[in-house]
Amino acid sequence: MTNIASEYKPVRVDLGNRGYDIHIGPDLIEGAGGLIGPYLRRPKTAIVTDSNLADHHLSRLTASLADRNITVSAIILPAGEASKSFTELGRVCEALIDAGIERRDTIIAFGGGVVGDLAGFAAASIHRGIGFVQIPTTLLAQVDSSVGGKTGINLSHGKNLVGAFHQPSLVLADTGVLDSLPDREIRAGYAEVVKYALIDNRPFFDWLETNATAVLERSGAERAYAIRQSCLSKAAIVAADERENGARALLNLGHTFGHALEAAIGYTGELLHGEAVSIGTALAFDLSARLGFTSQAQADLVSAHLARAGLPTGISSLSNRLPNANGLLRLMGKDKKVVGGTKTLVLVRGIGEAFLTCDVNDKVLLDFLAVKLNP
Ligand code: GLY
Repeated sequence: MTNIASEYKPVRVDLGNRGYDIHIGPDLIEGAGGLIGPYLRRPKTAIVTDSNLADHHLSRLTASLADRNITVSAIILPAGEASKSFTELGRVCEALIDAGIERRDTIIAFGGGVVGDLAGFAAASIHRGIGFVQIPTTLLAQVDSSVGGKTGINLSHGKNLVGAFHQPSLVLADTGVLDSLPDREIRAGYAEVVKYALIDNRPFFDWLETNATAVLERSGAERAYAIRQSCLSKAAIVAADERENGARALLNLGHTFGHALEAAIGYTGELLHGEAVSIGTALAFDLSARLGFTSQAQADLVSAHLARAGLPTGISSLSNRLPNANGLLRLMGKDKKVVGGTKTLVLVRGIGEAFLTCDVNDKVLLDFLAVKLNP
């Protein structure tokens, strides 16, 4: 765990003939043409990206592809969660057809989670499915959403309610591109890094306790190591349970609470996904302690770690923006893990010991949420 010398070796997502590599390191955008070229049946592709990336990084990617004589069309979405809609999906699919993208072509998703999810769903749908490469440009997308093949869009009922499992052919996580992200985005992505440690990797949590500042503040070896560890964890879980029939649901630690908070506040940027996950994770630990699965000391250690990383951990400060406990519980009921009306929660027996349970009834959750809203 302490050897962080970043020997350059891709992380493999082992899914047989749908398996793929995740490359992690600096300057991958400059090298993208050489890395992506072997996946293209002809020297032609389309990049789906957003207006922020188009202004700052797209020219480096197109230059790298042009160096390999690959012709590129760029399809640019408005930046922001609102783009994960049927309207934008339709626009992207029409633009892909306009660009002459055929059944055997591969497209490139270049951006954060919104772009990756939408472009991945377009790739899953157009011509009944074409190949795609993920070039995630946020910490959150590099450690989570670009890996594992979940693609989709949002409905007014909630996030990611329409989508498909569609694995990319390749993931390029360029650590250099993270340098241009606001601090707050890095911190939000860090919540997902901590998640992997909390699910089943106590030594990684101990490492983060010592190295969080380096991971958060610099695009150095520590940050690359944290991304790599996260991708190794995700790759192992996805390889074992690609379609979330079991263990993959553990990756939703903090998300059942988190998604309810996001839905309540709205997707305006006031509460970022990673911030909602941070609060949700702290709540999952607190609830686990309240139910006697773990000690309050473990829960406090996790909250303190997230707070030191500049992340929110409670809901009382948001209470004037949230519905009451009943309203929050209703929003939690829209989760995709609900089975026959029963909520599945990810709880913990300690740091690195997450488990799934359907045994927490609504009354218990209601009391818990009421206390958390008004401590
Ligand atoms: N982000 C959770 C998953 O990929 O399963």
